[in-house]
Amino acid sequence: MTETLDIALPKGRLGEKVARLLSEAGMGCDGLGGDSRKLVLSGGGGSLRFFWVKPADVPIYVERGAADIGVAGRDVLLESGADVYELLDLGLGKCRMCVAGYPGGLERGGVLRVATKFPNIATRHFMNRGRAIDIIKLNGSIELAPIIGLADVIVDIVETGATLRENSLDVLEEILPISARLVANKASFRFKHGRVQELSAALSGILEGGKN
Ligand code: PRP
Repeated sequence: MTETLDIALPKGRLGEKVARLLSEAGMGCDGLGGDSRKLVLSGGGGSLRFFWVKPADVPIYVERGAADIGVAGRDVLLESGADVYELLDLGLGKCRMCVAGYPGGLERGGVLRVATKFPNIATRHFMNRGRAIDIIKLNGSIELAPIIGLADVIVDIVETGATLRENSLDVLEEILPISARLVANKASFRFKHGRVQELSAALSGILEGGKN
């Protein structure tokens, strides 16, 4: 009997794109792209099982082996520091991790107040620059922080740039490019190697076919 491959998918826009990609690769399942609230779905005659999880939780599911493989943004992976194998750049959800704020926001003397959802990425970035910072951890609407004087700058995702523009903020530094990655649990990569490679190769084939 073929063993089940457990796959953690990020709920939301990115997850919907990945679901389409999996279906194109012939590795999806009924209801994967629909608006069902079901959190666990089975496909491939029981050989595939999909979990819908909060995007930021994908690395922990994979690292702990609750899922054999998963899809997560590079931002989420770096922030989590999860010990997983990165198999494939899916090229989806492309954006940039940036320092943003009002022009001159970085020139403030003393300890720089940095608002962000990504404290680890922000800390590493400013540590590399030898800059003392005070992290203000927020969970959303990060752009509000410099506007109301809660922070000097933010470290956040910039996709279209519309949120910054509409709030008169600028990109002050680019930290890194982001896209979605296929990741694997280290033990699953070893013990379910054939199955993991099969899924990775199927997705890779679809991506190389330039259909996305
Ligand atoms: C993300 C991010 C920025 C915005 C960037 O926020 O934190 O605020 O998208 O996209 P843009 O460059 O295309 O404007 P999200 O929509 O996840 O909402 P949030 O405020 O809850 O973080």
